[in-house]
Amino acid sequence: MLTERAKVIVREYKPSDHKRSCQLFKLGMMTGNWWIHYTLNFKLGTSLMYTQLLIALLTFSLSPSFLSWVSFVLLVQIFFMGNMYRGWFNYVRRGLKTDMSGKNLDHWTAKGKENAGFFVAEVDGLVVGTVAYSKVNGESVEIFRLSVDAQCRKLGIAKKLVEEVAKVAKAHGYYCIIANCSSAQLSALQFYTKAGFEEVNRCAHPGPGYWFCFHGLEALTYIKRLH
Ligand SMILES: CC(C)(COP(=O)(O)OP(=O)(O)OC[C@H]1O[C@@H](n2cnc3c(N)ncnc32)[C@H](O)[C@@H]1OP(=O)(O)O)[C@@H](O)C(=O)NCCC(=O)NCCS
Repeated sequence: MLTERAKVIVREYKPSDHKRSCQLFKLGMMTGNWWIHYTLNFKLGTSLMYTQLLIALLTFSLSPSFLSWVSFVLLVQIFFMGNMYRGWFNYVRRGLKTDMSGKNLDHWTAKGKENAGFFVAEVDGLVVGTVAYSKVNGESVEIFRLSVDAQCRKLGIAKKLVEEVAKVAKAHGYYCIIANCSSAQLSALQFYTKAGFEEVNRCAHPGPGYWFCFHGLEALTYIKRLH
C-alpha cells in the first residue's frame, strides 16, 4: 500500500510500459464495473429495473409453479449479468486490439504532441497510472485510458496525470479537456467532479448495442475549462 508521501513521477510513455499500461486499462475497466452496472439498476431504479419487474410479473401468471417462476427469474438475472460482463469485456478487448496495441502505442504517440499523447505515473519504478489524450477539434482534447492501480487510489495520482494533459493542452492553445464515461464508473464520476470537471451531458449509453431498457447505462460527458 502506497503512502501519501510516495514520490509520484508523471512522464511520457515508453515501449517498456506497454504490458503494465494494458494491465491497468484492463483492471480499471473490468474490476467491479460490470457488477456496479448490474446493481446500480436496482439502486437507481433505471428502465432496466422496470423491464425486469415487467418480465417477472408477466411470467408469474404464466408459470406452472412458484418454483419454476423463481428459477425463470433467476435465469433472467444471470442472463442480464452475463450480458453486462460481456459488454465490458468486449470493450476492453476492442481497446487492447486497437489503440492499445503495439509496444509503441502509435495510436497515441505517433501523431505529434499537439494531436495526441500518452502519460504514465510511476512510483519507485513501477507504473501505477495511465492517461491518454487526443485532439477533438481546434478547442478541445479528450482524455482516454485514465486508470490508477487500485492500491494507489485517492492519493492524487489521477489528478497529476490530468494536470499533465492540461499543461500540454494549454501549451498547444486548447481551451478545454473533455472526458466521457458511464454511470457505472462511480470512482470516475467522483474524480471528475473533484478535479474541476463540469458535467455537460447525460444520455442513454450508445455503447452496449442493445436498447436502453435492457442495459440502463448512461453516458456522461464532462468538461474542464483551461482558461
Ligand atoms: C477514477 C480514478 C482514475 C481516480 O484515480 P485516483 O488516483 O484515485 O484519483 P485522485 O487521487 O487523483 O483523486 C482526486 C480527487 O477525487 C477524489 N476521488 C477519487 N476517487 C474517488 C472515489 N472513488 N470516491 C470519492 N472520491 C474520489 C479524491 O478523494 C480526490 O479528492 P480531493 O481532491 O478532495 O482530495 C481511479 O479510481 C480509477 O482508476 N478507476 C477505474 C478506472 C476508471 O473508471 N477510469 C475512468 C475512465 S472514464
